[in-house]
Amino acid sequence: MRRAIYPGSFDPMTNGHLDIIERGCKLFDEIIIAILVHPDKQPLFTIDERREMLLQVSGEINSGACALRVDSFQGLLVEYALACGADAIVRGIRAISDYEYELQMALMNRRLEPRIETVFMMPHEDYSYVSSRLVKEVFQLGGSIDGLVPAPILERMKQKLNKA
Ligand code: PNS
Repeated sequence: MRRAIYPGSFDPMTNGHLDIIERGCKLFDEIIIAILVHPDKQPLFTIDERREMLLQVSGEINSGACALRVDSFQGLLVEYALACGADAIVRGIRAISDYEYELQMALMNRRLEPRIETVFMMPHEDYSYVSSRLVKEVFQLGGSIDGLVPAPILERMKQKLNKA
């Protein structure tokens, strides 16, 4: 039984996140998509809204034999991962610019908890420039984000920002 945590802010989930989850399903028996509860950040969507959206979208993923769960966590990721009985943390790497920060986190996490491995996965190149931050900014300024987020997420963004 191989269990992985896929942690992130998911504010909101993008097609890049979706792509990584689909790829992770080929490697793991269970993936827990874990939303970080970040008390200092001002998110667009609440934790409950993000959980709902992730549940909705993950329910439509063809995950094969891999079970998908959605959860949220506070505090150290490795402590959460250990408490879940996870073997690995999955992180998506879009470009070299991601790599430096992700390597730092992976090595720090390994120092904190050597039993948890970090697995880096590359999303499809179509999503190599897609981030939650840019998606929000472009949408808030009236630009199109069609094809960059799952359809239900686009709907939720329209509702949230009264752009229906
Ligand atoms: O989607 P994000 O915002 O890039 O995800 C970052 C995340 C949640 C993976 C990272 O901030 C994290 O793990 N936070 C939990 C606190 C923690 O463990 N910090 C030490 C990391 S070395």
